[in-house]
Amino acid sequence: MYKLFTGLQPSGALHIGNYFGALKPAVEMCREYDGMLMVADYHALTTLKDPKAMHENILGVVKDYVAAGLDPEHTIIFKQSDVPEHTELAWIFQCLVTVPFLELSHAYKDKLAKGLEANAGLFAYPMLMAADILLYDTDVVPVGEDQRQHLEYAREAAAKFNNTFGETFKEPREKILKSVAVVPGTDGKKMSKSYSNTIPLFGTKDEITKAVMSIVTDSKGELPENVLAIHRAFKSEKELGALYEANKKNYKVIKEALIADVEAIVAPMRDKRDSISDADAKGILKDGGDRARERASKKMADVRKKIGVSI
Ligand code: ADP
Ligand code: TRP
Repeated sequence: MYKLFTGLQPSGALHIGNYFGALKPAVEMCREYDGMLMVADYHALTTLKDPKAMHENILGVVKDYVAAGLDPEHTIIFKQSDVPEHTELAWIFQCLVTVPFLELSHAYKDKLAKGLEANAGLFAYPMLMAADILLYDTDVVPVGEDQRQHLEYAREAAAKFNNTFGETFKEPREKILKSVAVVPGTDGKKMSKSYSNTIPLFGTKDEITKAVMSIVTDSKGELPENVLAIHRAFKSEKELGALYEANKKNYKVIKEALIADVEAIVAPMRDKRDSISDADAKGILKDGGDRARERASKKMADVRKKIGVSI
């Protein structure tokens, strides 16, 4: 069975754009593969220095994915910090690649441009990610377009190690998740937590209603374009055609229909998420961590032998 691995930063509340663009496709892919889903807490530490938020977000990611349909019996869900082999292997890769090579990272340059501190962890980030992926002989890594270069780094780390110490790591492929479409936000721009234009994925009915009612409509046209654009994530063009045709200029009816369609998808997931306790999420991580560590420790025993440190 093909091996799938992906990592997620524990970064807080999700919106419906995240659901259609990342969560749903990842959950669907995991069903068909020997899958591992890692909460990248040590990657998050490069930018997140708030222990309470870190703790809450880690448990939150587990709940989000299980609520969205991930089966933790089938897919291993674990956190990076529970498997110290990740940071160990990252160190070894850092000793194989050069500073100028890491300086080519777009993600690193973008983060500095945004004003983030140039800490050494941020700089070495791609080697920790390479370790995450290569430890498990991964075949395929589903990620967003912004992570494409990180997969190139992972292949390069594998090749460098294999050339220096003998064939050990498999070179993985990325699977760029192209969301059917970018889900726009309540202002018509891409839905993003940075623009405060989101419809929360696990929001209450009131929060969803408030977000939908705030969608900006242009009174000039007959069709409320911004509402329609979000609606397309939920219903086919054909279904929407009839609704929008019958309710020209009646934005209230159309927005109410959108609220009902969002609720139909979100309500069962919200109920599922509410039913998962912190203790359940911790149990899932514990079980996943044990399963991941068993695999990782075997691989690292081989790596240590290859580089000559096991005596
Ligand atoms: P945000 O823009 O809210 O900060 P992130 O950058 O954390 O979102 O994105 C996490 C994942 O969700 C990425 O894989 C991205 O492709 C997907 N995603 C984010 N926003 C959208 C959107 N509006 N439509 C479709 N997919 C999205
Ligand atoms: N860097 C990824 C992101 O920010 C998260 C990540 C960490 C990851 N390790 C990974 C993704 C390994 C795929 C495979 O989205």
